[in-house]
Amino acid sequence: MGLSLVFNEAPAPLGKFLESYRSRGFQQIEGWCADEMFKVCPFVDEIQRSKGVSGGACEIGINQGKFFILLNGLVDENETSYAIDLFENQEFNIDNCGGGPRDTFEKHLAKFDRHGGSNVKIVTADSTDAALRSCISGGKIRLLSVDGGHTAEHIVNDLSLANRFIVSGGAVMVNDVMHYHWIGVIEGIFKFLMQSPALVPFAIGFNRLFMCKLSWYPIYFNAFNSSPMRKNTVPMLGRQIVVL
Ligand SMILES: C[S@@+](CC[C@H](N)C(=O)[O-])C[C@H]1O[C@@H](n2cnc3c(N)ncnc32)[C@H](O)[C@@H]1O
Repeated sequence: MGLSLVFNEAPAPLGKFLESYRSRGFQQIEGWCADEMFKVCPFVDEIQRSKGVSGGACEIGINQGKFFILLNGLVDENETSYAIDLFENQEFNIDNCGGGPRDTFEKHLAKFDRHGGSNVKIVTADSTDAALRSCISGGKIRLLSVDGGHTAEHIVNDLSLANRFIVSGGAVMVNDVMHYHWIGVIEGIFKFLMQSPALVPFAIGFNRLFMCKLSWYPIYFNAFNSSPMRKNTVPMLGRQIVVL
């Protein structure tokens, strides 16, 4: 009888994964993500790991997975990550902000994801659907990207979900914060913040607003404020945020 050996391939070390994804998949996948996120996201990851924060990644608004694959590379294989998009249901993409079929994303996951997508739950859904709330248990996500619908209503909705899904030391990144094609994003952010939620901004840069739970604000703010990425600080609704 022949001897059969089963090798469980370990995920690439983080540095190697980031280097190879940046030079290969990231270039090939269509989407919207600044190259600087290869510096910012590992820095957020470092802050979280130094404080013992664990959890998966989540993105609302995947398109072909350009940013999601970077985020999921930072989380451990035993953590569940969630990829939420309308995918084929583009009739509900009411602001026409891009959007690709689910199988394109699946192919990219299989080819470029650090864990081959093994820890990823793909959720085909409209983020405004109340059923989504029961798909993801609250307090399990540490890296969450809001990049779905760009109306003020979507942003208020998606930030409320983010506030519910993240662990207490988690971070939320809202894309297109200052994009003049997508004015609804900044309108939605201000409307959300006017409700005095426990999710507050600590930094802005590369077209994203970075947010965390109120009690973690000093940790994130101080870390970014003393990092080489800092360019300035500015007040936003009475709270200083770091400009990257
Ligand atoms: C700007 S693209 C996302 C880009 C992506 N994050 C990247 O890294 O390239 C916006 C995505 O949001 C999705 N979307 C739009 N409205 C949505 C909604 N209500 N619920 C879920 N996804 C939505 C679209 O299908 C599209 O794929």
